Amino acid sequence: MVITGATSGIGRAAAREFAGRGDRVVLAARSPETLAEVRAECRAAGARALVVPTDVTEPGAVARLADAAEAEFGGIDVWVHTAAVMSYGRFDETPAEVFEQVVRTDLLASAEVARVALRRFRAASAGTLILTGSVLGHITAPYMSGYVAAKWGLQGLARALQQEARETPGVRVCLVNPGSVDTPVYQQAANYLGRIGRPPLPVTTPERVARAVAHCVDHPRREISVGRLNVLMRVGFTVLPGVYDVLVGPLMRLGGLTLRPVAPHDGVVFTPNPAGEAVRGGWLPDVSGMVRSLAGAGGTVGSAVLRRLR
Ligand SMILES: NC(=O)c1ccc[n+]([C@@H]2O[C@H](COP(=O)([O-])OP(=O)(O)OC[C@H]3O[C@@H](n4cnc5c(N)ncnc54)[C@H](OP(=O)(O)O)[C@@H]3O)[C@@H](O)[C@H]2O)c1
Repeated sequence: MVITGATSGIGRAAAREFAGRGDRVVLAARSPETLAEVRAECRAAGARALVVPTDVTEPGAVARLADAAEAEFGGIDVWVHTAAVMSYGRFDETPAEVFEQVVRTDLLASAEVARVALRRFRAASAGTLILTGSVLGHITAPYMSGYVAAKWGLQGLARALQQEARETPGVRVCLVNPGSVDTPVYQQAANYLGRIGRPPLPVTTPERVARAVAHCVDHPRREISVGRLNVLMRVGFTVLPGVYDVLVGPLMRLGGLTLRPVAPHDGVVFTPNPAGEAVRGGWLPDVSGMVRSLAGAGGTVGSAVLRRLR
């Protein structure tokens, strides 16, 4: 399994999910220090893991990653591509180079991943490519124009690739479209809006999306939507575009932005920020983490009591 975008959010949760199943994983993203952490997590789960620091927007980098994966494990069965960056701001107030790098990362690099993966899958007559889109590939929201343009492009690209893949039995292309997910992408985004973004409610977990990705690997489907309001939003966008456009701005400002002020910055669009990388973004309480801590604390107290009693 090659995972591009393995250091944070959904990609990191997917790496853990696959490692837990005993899959051999190849982990890629730009930040070598965080990749080493994820490799340790995967190895602790009992999986073999290879790290290949990769900037997917660099010419030739994705092919070098595939070569490294094949050299280590003999072939690639599945490629899960989650790498992406985001930028907040009015279109006319966002620097052109930031808009272009968002599109380069989220759309053109996805195309490069697809090109490299599908050429190899076609030669092997087998392989599954999972691309990560968004509900924003079907609807639009203000202040995220580069991201929205890239995700609409990816939606079309994925569909065209699926149609072509019909000629190559054994080769599958799937698109996973999450709604709001609790990952660090919102804090890591470039920002020219003055307020830090947040995932609008309802927010799901990256682990849930990772399970959907794993399910898609086992039972490939053209498209999987993860998010309770995705369908409703698509219906509103399509059937009542006038009403949708009146409501989406105020709803975005209310539910999609925090009140926390932020000076203009380009976030991780050009360079990674290892300090901000994690599975969760801190938008939801980590219930399973709390249960694990409580169980750990319970275990410690229990052992102390047992030691006393002995
Ligand atoms: N979170 C949500 O609410 C949400 C909703 C819908 C769709 N999605 C989609 O789900 C996917 C994962 O998002 P996420 O929320 O998990 O984001 P995230 O936590 O910010 O993780 C993004 C990953 O992409 C990597 N990356 C960014 N630029 C890269 C580059 N040039 N080369 C290689 N790797 C790069 C990052 O690592 P480095 O910075 O170290 O390179 C990181 O591992 C994206 O496609 C996103 O659009 C997310």
